[in-house]
Amino acid sequence: MMDTNYLVIGSGVAGLTFAVKIAEQFADRTVTIVTKANEDESNTKYAQGGVAVVLDGKEDSFQKHIDDTLLAGDGLCDEEVVSLVIKEGPQRLKELIDWGANFDSNDQGKLDLGKEGGHSEYRVVHHKDITGYEVERALLHRAHQLPNITILTHHFAIDLITEHHLQLTNPDSITCFGAYVLDQNSGHIKTIKADNTLLASGGIGYVYGHTTNPVIATGDGVAMAYRAKAKIRDMEFIQFHPTALYDAEEGSSFLISEAVRGFGGYLRNKEGRRFMLDYDDRAELASRDIVSQSIDCELKKSGNTHVFLDCTHLDIEKFKSHFPNIYQKCLTYHIDIEKDWIPVVPASHYLCGGIVVDTHGRTSVKNLFACGECSRTGLHGANRLASNSLLEALVYAHNIYTYHTEHQLPSIQVTIPEWNDKGTSIPKEHILIQHNLKQLQALMRDYVGIVRSNSRLNKAIEHLNLVYNEVDELYRTSKVNTALCELRNMINVAHLIIHQSLERKENRGGYYNIDNQVDTTSIYT
Ligand code: FAD
Ligand code: SIN
Repeated sequence: MMDTNYLVIGSGVAGLTFAVKIAEQFADRTVTIVTKANEDESNTKYAQGGVAVVLDGKEDSFQKHIDDTLLAGDGLCDEEVVSLVIKEGPQRLKELIDWGANFDSNDQGKLDLGKEGGHSEYRVVHHKDITGYEVERALLHRAHQLPNITILTHHFAIDLITEHHLQLTNPDSITCFGAYVLDQNSGHIKTIKADNTLLASGGIGYVYGHTTNPVIATGDGVAMAYRAKAKIRDMEFIQFHPTALYDAEEGSSFLISEAVRGFGGYLRNKEGRRFMLDYDDRAELASRDIVSQSIDCELKKSGNTHVFLDCTHLDIEKFKSHFPNIYQKCLTYHIDIEKDWIPVVPASHYLCGGIVVDTHGRTSVKNLFACGECSRTGLHGANRLASNSLLEALVYAHNIYTYHTEHQLPSIQVTIPEWNDKGTSIPKEHILIQHNLKQLQALMRDYVGIVRSNSRLNKAIEHLNLVYNEVDELYRTSKVNTALCELRNMINVAHLIIHQSLERKENRGGYYNIDNQVDTTSIYT
């Protein structure tokens, strides 16, 4: 058994920021980060557009950023949280810069500010079109300098340890004592006892298959928290990014940043018409839910598989300098942005809901905190404003850190049993996992996509039950492995998305059900 003061599950922006801050403050306390892949593999690493922060007091203001966030969230944001996050942005960005993160500057030597959908001003701080890569690099660099941080790579958190594992029934409140963690190299399951545990395990994109997220985004943290009986909310609000590069063979996964539309790119249908003007006065820079739904509507009307992003009218040298990664990636697909339109299609991108936390990042389970994409703070409401995610993770990591500077470490005196896998054997048929994964992704894509209906959601429950039964049987009889645990987690996440979708009786932001009352301004009327 390992013992640590802070167990951090995940090494993206949320987990690393908290780890660095707490380790800097308390040199005598231990911080253990477990992460299931290489240390930098995360949604964070692929972030393109940047971090939304109000820096230009002349044109921009906190109030404008607050208003944009509230409008994008379609009336479901927590206004107190929105104000708190946005007003803290400049300080948190400065801290990141102090840790060595580099952001692009303009001719006047000031930070260059980009624009994305739903933003009324230029306020997105960026590093070319690989902002997340740079943020991840800087945070890891700082984490490596701190001797009280241990990073265990290829360590997969299987389950949170609560009273349930100690065989204590009916406790007054549920407490987290750490986690069972699979060392993926040795196959050994470690018991990590922790005074405090932070879930910073990121998003759920892979549940859809058709996603901008890397394969690590399997919703493990949300599923673990759900099994530990933490409150989970707003799972119906899956954000679909409007412009993933369309690839008929491989599916769509590479993102064409919204900042490209902020730079002047136009969306066109196959006939060449700038269709966004039909749907919203802000055209290509309407908020993401509106642009994705509009594309979906165009595709349903035409029967086409994709629309196009046209950048041929833009200054190509400036384009290459702002978006070198996107430019190069398109070339590998034989798309020359100077001459060719980029084929694009919406893809699952971001989880707006998740594990409910208060402003200190506390979940409803004692000693369990959550931060970043797996958490539901109330900032995003029904649809996240672009580039508010990295910002949220930075601010909440700080809030959780502050909470710990003001509160003593809890004293935990429990004996935790080792992981029990008696009666299980090594699964022989990996094909069962692959088959059920494909089934799950297909049902989420076909029945729980941008436009939902009660009958499709109910069908999804029936299909999911079949997948669940097969995988549950496998889980109970097998020695655990990462693929099996991830699939089990994705099934939990799908269950939450489907059931919380059925509970929502009105369409808001990124949630659209044809059986709910449709107002006359709806894109689909
Ligand atoms: P992540 O960065 O995803 O980190 C999660 C970590 O948890 C990973 O290290 C993972 O390996 C680990 N993990 C997960 N499960 C387990 C487990 N069971 N055991 C151990 N470890 C585990 N947001 C913006 O604000 N601006 C942008 O420009 C932007 N662009 C984006 C572009 C793309 C292509 C994508 C996919 C997202 C983008 N986002 C952007 C969203 C943003 O990147 C993410 O929401 C944010 O980085 C999430 O950070 P995180 O720390 O919560 O999670
Ligand atoms: C993008 O660059 O389009 C992604 C921004 C985000 O998800 O916030």
